Amino acid sequence: MLSRDVISTGPLILRPPTEEDAEAIVKACDDPATARFLPMMPSPYRMEDALAYVRDVPATWEGGGAVYAITENDRFVGSIGVRPPDRDGAMEIGYLVAPWARGKNVAGTAVRAVTDWLFDQGVHRVELRAEVENVASLRVAYKTGFHEEGLRRDGRRLRDGRYADVVWFARLAGDAVPAAEPYLPFFEGGELSDGVVRLAPIAVEDAADYHRMLADPSVARYHVGPPSTLEDDERRCRYTGYWWASGQRIELAVRDAASGAFAGHVQLTQVVHVLGQAMVGYSLVPEYRGKGFMSRAVTMLVDWAFANTALHRIVAGTDTENAASHRVLERSGFSREGVHRELFVRADGTRADDVAWSRLRPS
Ligand SMILES: CC(C)(COP(=O)(O)OP(=O)(O)OC[C@H]1O[C@@H](n2cnc3c(N)ncnc32)[C@H](O)[C@@H]1OP(=O)(O)O)[C@@H](O)C(=O)NCCC(=O)NCCS
Repeated sequence: MLSRDVISTGPLILRPPTEEDAEAIVKACDDPATARFLPMMPSPYRMEDALAYVRDVPATWEGGGAVYAITENDRFVGSIGVRPPDRDGAMEIGYLVAPWARGKNVAGTAVRAVTDWLFDQGVHRVELRAEVENVASLRVAYKTGFHEEGLRRDGRRLRDGRYADVVWFARLAGDAVPAAEPYLPFFEGGELSDGVVRLAPIAVEDAADYHRMLADPSVARYHVGPPSTLEDDERRCRYTGYWWASGQRIELAVRDAASGAFAGHVQLTQVVHVLGQAMVGYSLVPEYRGKGFMSRAVTMLVDWAFANTALHRIVAGTDTENAASHRVLERSGFSREGVHRELFVRADGTRADDVAWSRLRPS
């Protein structure tokens, strides 16, 4: 059984919750993000739910788990719990932070402290899981040194009956805690714009436009791999935050800055951290071609990448016949490096040569 310590960490004190916290617990839990990402909790969340939660606290501790209220200046700002150990001794943590205290590293601080406290008591493996769309929680996992171990597809049933994919993480007692800085930071303010073109994370609301664009014959012609269904593209759009937070890739909607209309897609993919290399890929809907939109989008994204990440080489590959794409890369400062012979597999099964391009980090 875990010892019932009070944990003090930075400005936070973690102690078991009491009935005096009930009002704050109701306010913290009756919130859309909590309802969305913790579907096992009652919604709406009422006073009787908070009182039942507090009354269950002694039983959770007796069962080998732990329940803490996270407090700052004696005010409830969140909660963090530990499930009883599984048969192999691994323990899983879960947390929530009150809406008024989010974005101030409360979860990050509490997760680090509770994980270290569990290791101090001989626990060898601490687990946590977060949905692919729960960007804040994913960021908490990465910045507190948890290693991503797997992806459980349709692993969680949501309130509306839909299933969501869940990322599983663990930290072992001996793991080195890596730097908290992400390899691919999020855009400051959430987007990039040059006044004509706006780049923002592609979201599930963009899936229909994105799918229509991919199905256009002029885009499909240069697409590698089988055509996707609308369902595939929706799922893919739900992964944007996870791919970005995990340093794997950036997926963006290109928008007309004036109207906000969906104009296309640009991505930074195939990110190889040890080489400092990533690949840019893009497509525009036909109505937005011939206006210089993609040259602006690629220039903005690559300039941002060199200013904000450790990337050294941004590469691109184009079909030898794709003259418009060659112009985009030339205008965005890319140089031809050579030809990969018969790299592309076309829809009809024939192969095409690939022109290899790159832009290097300015010295
Ligand atoms: C998840 C949750 C606990 C995070 O609490 P928090 O105290 O705000 O977390 P922190 O401030 O320690 O860290 C959040 C990180 O996510 C980032 N973040 C939050 N929302 C984001 C978004 N929409 N896009 C990109 N980054 C985002 C923050 O900038 C911060 O990263 P940083 O430290 O690199 O700046 C809180 O959002 C919450 O209670 N959500 C509802 C319940 C829940 O999801 N629980 C977890 C279930 S797995």
